[in-house]
Amino acid sequence: MHPLVVLAVLILTLLYLHRRHRKPTTTLICTLDEARSLLANPSTAFTPLQSRALPNQRLVTAFGINNSFTTTSLQHHKSFLHTASHLLKLSPSQWASMAQLAQSLLPSKHTRTLHLIPFLRTYVLTIILHLFFPAYMPADEAVVGRLAQLIHALWVQSKTGAPSLASRQELSEVMRTLFPDVAENPLNLLLPAYETLWRVVLRLFIEVHRGPAEWREVLNLYLQRPSTERFRSSRDGVSPMFLVREALRLYPPTKRVYRAVGEKAWVAIDLEALQMDSKVWGEDVAIFRPERWRFVASERQAGEMGWMPFGEGCFVCPAKGMFAPRLIALLVAAVGRVVPAEAMPTAERKEDLPEKGRLDNERDGYVTLKYCW
Ligand code: HEM
Repeated sequence: MHPLVVLAVLILTLLYLHRRHRKPTTTLICTLDEARSLLANPSTAFTPLQSRALPNQRLVTAFGINNSFTTTSLQHHKSFLHTASHLLKLSPSQWASMAQLAQSLLPSKHTRTLHLIPFLRTYVLTIILHLFFPAYMPADEAVVGRLAQLIHALWVQSKTGAPSLASRQELSEVMRTLFPDVAENPLNLLLPAYETLWRVVLRLFIEVHRGPAEWREVLNLYLQRPSTERFRSSRDGVSPMFLVREALRLYPPTKRVYRAVGEKAWVAIDLEALQMDSKVWGEDVAIFRPERWRFVASERQAGEMGWMPFGEGCFVCPAKGMFAPRLIALLVAAVGRVVPAEAMPTAERKEDLPEKGRLDNERDGYVTLKYCW
């Protein structure tokens, strides 16, 4: 073949490969009407499941999961959601057992320092393991802690490319140690629950610790009897429900929801920005002020104001109603029993010390934060 033809074929192949592998362009969506419309009807090019699964392929590579977030099969979506929803319905006695479990997993009374992030990651993951996998045998705390670290590392790596083979292999080993006999990937369930919960528990804990004593008291009452009634009942105008709603407004763990809307075109619906609109929430939008929820009559009204930490439209989180909000309150209340009000925050990195005003909502925030007493 003529060398020029070979060169032309080579250039065309390279161009084709470049087009195929180029990253999609992502448009940020920050207006409520647009966000609503995209969440209800993401794209004409794809089914809603495809539109969500495409941007989530990175999670398949990193964690090997096949769940609501990654499937394009209506049937699989339905059955996964059914299983998840079923697990999230707890009876009053199960809530009481949860409160006991949450307290039994706390560090001993002799503890005088708590390194918040490693503790919370292991703690929240252990609670979820107990809850979702009744056959789960309490494992070495270090193994659960390593799983928590690996999930975090792989999640972060998957945002910029394929995570390292070494991390993925280590994840498989840890999973085999924790779940020697489970056929389906436990991460299908663990991931959406754990990756959201621990981060909001962290930020609500910091807010409550630096807030007025009444917030701790109202959470404590709820921990003593974790009923719907106590979740909603307030002291000085603040209930556990208001604390949780405000934490989810200011620090939504899912900051952006991604959808594919065309070939190599994605949108990122910016839930965090929608919940920080001062025209809706007022000039003090960036302040953690649970009292503001006194003037919001219902979750429906909150949704109309752009509060949608659990998503909206085609896919709404099954933990939205009661499970996630109540568990967040319960865990923050439990940790508050170990860390006394007079405990002082310290940190190796200056930026990890909670300053006045809104906390950092980045995934890597507060890694060196400790409380000492
Ligand atoms: C603070 C806690 C949580 C937050 C903020 C949260 C947030 C969200 C959001 C924003 C979505 C919509 C995603 C999208 O539209 O692409 C979602 C969906 C979902 N979440 Fe959660 N979530 C939380 C806890 C949980 C828990 C504890 C579970 C338990 C397994 C869970 C399971 C799911 C599932 C299965 C879906 C997919 C629903 C569907 O496909 O229709 N989430 N979550």
